[in-house]
Amino acid sequence: MTKILVLYYSLHGNTRQLARHIGRGIEQITDCEAVLRTVADISTAATSQLTTASDPIVSHDDLKQCAAMAMGSPVRFGNMAAPLKHFLDSTSAEWLSGTLISKPACVFTSSSSLHGGQETTLQSMMLPLLHHGMLIVGIPYSEPLLHTTHHGGTPYGASHVNNGTNKQLHPDEIALAQAIGRRLATTACKLNG
Ligand SMILES: Cc1cc2nc3c(=O)[nH]c(=O)nc-3n(C[C@H](O)[C@H](O)[C@H](O)COP(=O)(O)O)c2cc1C
Repeated sequence: MTKILVLYYSLHGNTRQLARHIGRGIEQITDCEAVLRTVADISTAATSQLTTASDPIVSHDDLKQCAAMAMGSPVRFGNMAAPLKHFLDSTSAEWLSGTLISKPACVFTSSSSLHGGQETTLQSMMLPLLHHGMLIVGIPYSEPLLHTTHHGGTPYGASHVNNGTNKQLHPDEIALAQAIGRRLATTACKLNG
C-alpha cells in the first residue's frame, strides 16, 4: 500500500472534515491508504477548548513512512495555526536528512469568511513544504467546479468557508477536496512506479 499522510490541525472540526474528504479521495486510488494525523495542541486560550474527536498525533516516523502528504490548517489571521507551525518547527531532522524531498504534497484550509485569507494561508503552508523539497500539487482548472463554485475550493488547494456557523461542507467543497486527494495519490503512485 502507498501510505499518504493527511496531517491537519482543527479546533472546531471544519478542517478535520476536509481532511476526511481528502482521505476519501486518496482511497479512491487503487492501493493507496490515507493516514490521518493531527498535531499536538499548544497552550493558548483558544486551543484550550480543543475537541477530543480527533485522529492520532503525528509522529516523525509518519513523515518517513509516507509517500506524499496533504497538510491543512484553519485560517488564523491569514496564516496557518500555531500548533501546525509548532510541529513544522520540530522537523529539522527531516530537513537535514531529506526525508520529504521529492514527495508530492498539497494543502487545505478552512475559514469563517470567503475573503478571510484562505489563499495566503494555503501559501503559508506551502513555504515550509518547499523548503523540505516537496512537490506541490494544486487543483487544476480541468476540474469543472473550480470555474463555477461560490464556496471553497481554490487552485492552490482545497478549502471550506463556514460563514461563521456552517460546519457542513458544501458539495462543491467535498468534490474538490476529494479531487485533490485523488490527484495527490495518483501523483505519488506515478512517482513511485
Ligand atoms: C485566532 C483566530 C483567528 C482567525 N482568523 C481568521 C481569519 O483571518 N479569517 C477568517 O476568515 N477566519 C478566521 N478565523 C476563523 C477560522 O479560520 C474558521 O472558523 C475555521 O473554519 C476554523 O476551522 P476549524 O473548525 O478546523 O478549527 C480565525 C479563528 C481564530 C480562533
